[in-house]
Amino acid sequence: MYKIALLPGDGIGPEIVPQAVKVLEAVGEKYNREFQFETALIGGAAYDATGHPLPEETLELCRRSDAILLGAVGGPKWDSLEPHLRPERGALLPLRKALGLYANLRPATVKPSLADASTLKEDIVSGLDIMIIRELTGGLYFGQKHREDLPEGGQKAVETLEYSTAEVERVARLGFEMARKRDNRLMSVDKANVLESSRLWREVVEELAKEYPDVELSHMYVDNAAMQLVRNPKQFDVMVTENMFGDILTDLASQLTGSIGMLPSASIGGEVALYEPIHGSAPDIAGQNLANPIATILSAAMMLRVSFGLEQEAQAIEAAVNSVLEQGYRTGDIMQPGMTSLGTVEMTEAILKELR
Ligand code: NAD
Ligand code: IPM
Ligand code: MN
Repeated sequence: MYKIALLPGDGIGPEIVPQAVKVLEAVGEKYNREFQFETALIGGAAYDATGHPLPEETLELCRRSDAILLGAVGGPKWDSLEPHLRPERGALLPLRKALGLYANLRPATVKPSLADASTLKEDIVSGLDIMIIRELTGGLYFGQKHREDLPEGGQKAVETLEYSTAEVERVARLGFEMARKRDNRLMSVDKANVLESSRLWREVVEELAKEYPDVELSHMYVDNAAMQLVRNPKQFDVMVTENMFGDILTDLASQLTGSIGMLPSASIGGEVALYEPIHGSAPDIAGQNLANPIATILSAAMMLRVSFGLEQEAQAIEAAVNSVLEQGYRTGDIMQPGMTSLGTVEMTEAILKELR
């Protein structure tokens, strides 16, 4: 029996998480696995109900679960709260930190049937299969932050970008290990021409590379990496980078696959792993049955593979998603001429039918 904590959160979160639950239940039935779900509040929803975006009960539930599935947090309603009460800074970041989830795996793969769905030319993206590893508990996100009033008027805002040798080494090691499981190529992305933290990053990665002589290591500056991801994304296999660079590059990479609604993620490194789509709460389409549930459903597949070692079950979900896309079913974000447009729930129904 696998205990899964569900944190739907805000915006489209409460629409997409139940879709992944239905898929997990169908997989459980088919392969005779038992999943037990327990739901907790997070983000704006938690703030509204309890006055805090990350209630202690939520953290406790996560700690006694075998894995966590999160929707998304945040939205205009909570944007002007004090920083420590905002869903992003008051809940999501502290949750990642508290659970020790220092690495975020964000695979960007182009499904054959979506090769012409990207805003990029088909031959540039078709067959794309890259793995971006984003450091998740360091960098600017977790540095010191403060503001001060200036004597001449106005204010100064300060944040620090900090990384230690150990923080870089553990995530870089994951990059090398991942490269070994794939094409033995690792691209470390930094800004070592300017940032001191990136100079340390590069030194640590270089040092670690001695333990992995079989892996071909390269370095690229982040500005060039952004350009190369659009110019020729298939040159990459595994990429590893710091927190904020990874945040930005993976939203960019998601568009290579057709939509940000397609990209799943796994946050690992602690006792319990957290799975979530890379997109946010999409307030512009929330509550309208428009959200693409596939990123969340594929995050559930990652959970089965990474946390539970259920490879066959994970593949069954991925195959069902591929097959539904091949049959021409689309949500609005990946809609193409001549295809059948489905809502969030109907897309899930189609995937369930395929699974059973
Ligand atoms: P977003 O990812 O929520 O939305 C960006 C665009 O992509 C929007 O047009 C949205 O409609 C679309 N989109 C996103 N997911 C989609 C899906 N599954 N199907 C179809 N279309 C989809 O980013 P944003 O608008 O910058 O942020 C909105 C809120 O979400 C903010 O409060 C932000 O802080 C928060 N956010 C949370 C997370 C998270 O919880 N992990 C991640 C990113 C942003
Ligand atoms: C993500 C999001 C978060 C991040 C925000 C909401 C804090 O953009 O999960 O990619 O920047 O990590
Ligand atoms: Mn992001």
